[in-house]
Amino acid sequence: MMSDIQIKDELYSGKAKTIYTTNDPEVFVSHFRDSLTAFDGKKKSEAEKKGYYNAQISRKLFEMLEDEGINTHYLGMFDDERMLVEKVEIIPIEVIPRNIAAGSITRKYPFNEGDEFKEPVLVMDYKSDEYGDPMLNEDIAIALGIATSEDIAKIRELAMNINSILTTYMEKQGLLLVDFKLEFGWANGEIVLADEISCDTCRFWDAGTRESLDKDVFRFNKGDVSGTYEKLARRLVPEIFEN
Ligand code: TMP
Ligand code: ASP
Repeated sequence: MMSDIQIKDELYSGKAKTIYTTNDPEVFVSHFRDSLTAFDGKKKSEAEKKGYYNAQISRKLFEMLEDEGINTHYLGMFDDERMLVEKVEIIPIEVIPRNIAAGSITRKYPFNEGDEFKEPVLVMDYKSDEYGDPMLNEDIAIALGIATSEDIAKIRELAMNINSILTTYMEKQGLLLVDFKLEFGWANGEIVLADEISCDTCRFWDAGTRESLDKDVFRFNKGDVSGTYEKLARRLVPEIFEN
């Protein structure tokens, strides 16, 4: 059935992905592009094959989560850089499980980078470029009309479950999953995992050296972006490097 999918119109172009409609009203195509932005789009660049590596990493992690019983929007691949996804209504919340302190949490609170949390810390931000993605609590989410108390509880349960599955998997690859951002959406009355899980949306550190293997390399000019994404892809999706 999926082989019959034809791309129709561009629906939306974000900072790193473009979404297309298809001949099936319930199926969209998500194209992972080579463009890269940080700091609310203030810093911009391109990195060769970055879209390909992110698409393949996301594919692998979505497939793994599906195998573990997590519902995602992932349906299959259209080609190497384009993913077939279920049409979902995105809930405008950036859901961020954190295992080790890094990034914004070390600027807002007295944590030092590298501090390991005894229990994962779940942060939820309101997804809004206009308002600078401010942190949410449950009351604000309810008052904004973007989620109910039950929805927040469900999202929290799913995010913690996903964190535990991914953390265990990364450990086996010699990686620390420091933190990552998830987005959820509604499909057929159910909350499903949407968007992507990639080097753009996660912090991965090498467990031995603690070097960054993710977008922090771009954000903070730590080195070669393409080479870093390739390094991570070699660990998470080694099969794409076999001929
Ligand atoms: P932060 O420390 O900057 O708040 O980022 C937390 C995690 O969320 C980190 O893994 C990177 C990811 N992230 C995104 O995916 N999109 C964003 O716009 C931001 C700011 C962070
Ligand atoms: N993706 C966001 C931006 O482009 C921020 C980030 O990932 O650092 O502004």
